[in-house]
Amino acid sequence: MTNPLVDTFDRVHDNLRISVTDRCNIRCFYCMPEDDVKYMPREEILSFEELERFARVAVSLGVTKLRITGGEPLVRKDLPLLISKLAGIPGVTDIALTTNGVLLAKHAQALYDAGLRRLNIHLDTLDRERFLRITRRDDLDKVLEGIAVAQRLGFGPMKINAVAVKNLLEPDLVPLARFGRENGIEIRFIEFMPLDAQGIWARNSVLTASEMIETLSREIAPLVEIPDGDPRAPATEYRFADGIGRVGFIASVSRPFCLNCNRIRLTSDGKLRYCLFAIEETDIKTLLRNGAPDEEIAATIRATVHQKWIGHEINSSQFVAPPRPMYAIGG
Ligand code: 5AD
Ligand code: SF4
Repeated sequence: MTNPLVDTFDRVHDNLRISVTDRCNIRCFYCMPEDDVKYMPREEILSFEELERFARVAVSLGVTKLRITGGEPLVRKDLPLLISKLAGIPGVTDIALTTNGVLLAKHAQALYDAGLRRLNIHLDTLDRERFLRITRRDDLDKVLEGIAVAQRLGFGPMKINAVAVKNLLEPDLVPLARFGRENGIEIRFIEFMPLDAQGIWARNSVLTASEMIETLSREIAPLVEIPDGDPRAPATEYRFADGIGRVGFIASVSRPFCLNCNRIRLTSDGKLRYCLFAIEETDIKTLLRNGAPDEEIAATIRATVHQKWIGHEINSSQFVAPPRPMYAIGG
C-alpha cells in the first residue's frame, strides 16, 4: 500500500466526491438561478471512462469512499452503468449517491442492481406549495414516490438533506423530522452555505443547528447528542430521547468541521478541488485527455491535497465565496 493522501495538517483523505453533471432538473433558489443557467458544454464533461480511470488512481492512493453528486446526477444518461464500474474497483468499500429524488422512482431498481445502497435525498419540505416556491418546480409527488420506491427496494441507510435557510425552513422542521421518525429515515439539516449562484447568502440567512435543536427538542422530544461514531463525518447526530428516530446537523457555518475533513472533489468538467469553498482547482481533464500516465495523475492528486488549506473562513471578514456555485461544484 502506498502512503495515504495526507495534507500538511495530517488529515488523511479517503473520500472522493465525483460530480457527474452540472445540470439539474429543478431550480432550488439557494443553488441555481431561475433561468439562463450557464451549463458547461458537453464536451467539457468527463466521460464514464475518464471518471473511472480517475477513481482508480484515487483508490490506489487510499480513497475508499465514493459519492456521486451533481447538479442532479440522475439526469446523466446511464448513471447506473457508471455506478457498477465504480463499485467494481477493488478497494472501494462504500459508494453513495446524492440526488434530488425527482427521477429516483424511475431509476431506483437499476441503481440497486448496479450495487448502490446508500442514498441521500435532497428534500426541504413536504408541502407542495412550498416545494414549488423553493425549487420552482412542481415535483414533490415524484420525490415522495422516489423515496417510497427506494425504501421498498431495500436501500439503506437512507438520509434526507434539507437546507436550513432562516425565515424559510422553520415551518418544515418539525414535519420533516416527524416524517423521518415515521419512515426510519435520518433527516439532516444543512446550514445554508454561501454557494448560491445569485449571491443571496447572508450571515443572518442561516438557520443554525442550535436553533433547530431547540425547536425540535421543544416540539417533538428532547434531542440527545450521539457520541461521535465517525469523528470525520460532517454531521453531528442526535437521537430523540423517546427512542424514536434521529436527526443530523451539518453545521458548516456555526460549527465548522474542517479539521476533520477527509474529502476531495472532482467537478464534472474534471477539476479537482480540496474544499467545497476552494478558490483554486487543479485541471485533471487535460491530463486525462493528453495521455498522462497514472503516476502523473497520482502525483497531481497528492500535490492538490498538499495545497489544502486549514479550512474555509465563512466566519471571517476575509471570506471570499468560491467562483462556482454548488451545482457546478458538486455538493
Ligand atoms: N447551502 C447548503 N447546502 C446546499 N445544498 C445545495 N446548495 C446549498 C447551499 N447553498 C445541498 C443540497 C444537496 C447537497 C449536495 O447540498 O441539499 O443535497
Ligand atoms: Fe438541483 Fe441540487 Fe441545486 Fe437543488 S440543490 S438546484 S436539486 S443541484
